[in-house]
Amino acid sequence: MAMRVAMIGGGMIAHDQLLPSLYQLQRLGRIGEIEVCARRRETLEALAEAPLLRRAFPGQSFRMRLEPYEEVIASLPAHSLVVMALPDQLHYDAVMCALRHDQHVLAVKPLVLKLEHARHIEEEARARGLLVGVEYHKRFDDRSLLARRRYREGLFGEFRLGTACLLEKWYYRHSNFQNWFTCDATDAFTYIGCHYVDLVAFITGLRPVEVSLYGIRDRFPNGVEGWLWTDARVIWSNGACLNVQNAIGFPDAAPGTNTQGLTMYCATAERGAWIRHDDQYRGIQYCYTRNPGGPGATLYAEPSTDYFQYVDAGGPGLVPVGYGYRSVAYIVERALELQGLAPEERREKLAAWDRAGVMATPANSSYNEAVIEAARQSLAEGGRPVPVAAA
Ligand SMILES: NC(=O)c1ccc[n+]([C@@H]2O[C@H](COP(=O)([O-])OP(=O)(O)OC[C@H]3O[C@@H](n4cnc5c(N)ncnc54)[C@H](O)[C@@H]3O)[C@@H](O)[C@H]2O)c1
Repeated sequence: MAMRVAMIGGGMIAHDQLLPSLYQLQRLGRIGEIEVCARRRETLEALAEAPLLRRAFPGQSFRMRLEPYEEVIASLPAHSLVVMALPDQLHYDAVMCALRHDQHVLAVKPLVLKLEHARHIEEEARARGLLVGVEYHKRFDDRSLLARRRYREGLFGEFRLGTACLLEKWYYRHSNFQNWFTCDATDAFTYIGCHYVDLVAFITGLRPVEVSLYGIRDRFPNGVEGWLWTDARVIWSNGACLNVQNAIGFPDAAPGTNTQGLTMYCATAERGAWIRHDDQYRGIQYCYTRNPGGPGATLYAEPSTDYFQYVDAGGPGLVPVGYGYRSVAYIVERALELQGLAPEERREKLAAWDRAGVMATPANSSYNEAVIEAARQSLAEGGRPVPVAAA
């Protein structure tokens, strides 16, 4: 029988990337029934009726589940896939719940906020022979995979200094973020800075050893305070230094859905080297005759076909393309590969994937949790440098 998939959480990332990727995999016959669990009926209705999803996937739908997610997970056959798309601070309980019910997990990043929690997840998953794939989709951008291969061939020498940024648009402040993006729970670096820390580790194989995080508190429209602007300095195992700036504050009138990119200055003893990725501007410039609509849409636009877009490939509906889709498909395919295998065979495959390091797993990417934990401490102490625990 086809693998069942239950997505927990039906917010922005569910709409923009996860559900359309799952619908495409369902269309291809790779997965069976899709269920989506949220606390409010309106969340599920809005997702079910989202115009772009209906146009892209005519005749496809998901089963709405309004029960607590624990009940939804308990109702699945063992070795189904739980797609966890909840706010950052709820990840740990939800992932552990899925594992205790013998479910494979696709988790949005950051997996959890504490190294100890990542270790619990790793141990529980290993004991049961279950997959936990952390959806760091930037890894599936071909430019990341190419930089990783070239770096590991020694073409850049060693990473020395770098800068990265990812600033989301201002309109995010009006979204559900107002209800969970609170100072005590998360911050701009924890939410999106982790992508570039993960990428530098992914490309170079270096590990972060110290972090200092400076933040500015700002208010959401409902008056709630969040760390909406952050500046991080991450020191690496070879002494290299990466600066990462993050915010929910890029102007809505600017083109594209955000601004983002990575520059790495590298060297051998004799020569300098350089990697620069403009992750925002992918070479497309559009000026429309009218605003196409949707949050943050602009008359002048710089769309990216690299992350996630829908194309008309002859129908029915539209086909999602980009690394956002490939990343979800990759993790789903790994869960499918484990179907029907004995626990020992599953553990062998899982260990090989941990070692290959392409898919982020608790065993090969928990330096992200160690950085977040140290960064949160640094933030609370005005940016004091805090050592990153060895993951
Ligand atoms: N670039 C990325 O990889 C990326 C991008 C966006 C979001 N994310 C991550 O995805 C997660 C969700 O972000 P989002 O933008 O979708 O947020 P969101 O606020 O739009 O959605 C969160 C959803 O969780 C649901 N929810 C909350 N508590 C629940 C509960 N107890 N049971 C069931 N549902 C519950 C809410 O109803 C909502 O549908 C965050 O951890 C975020 O960091 C990752």
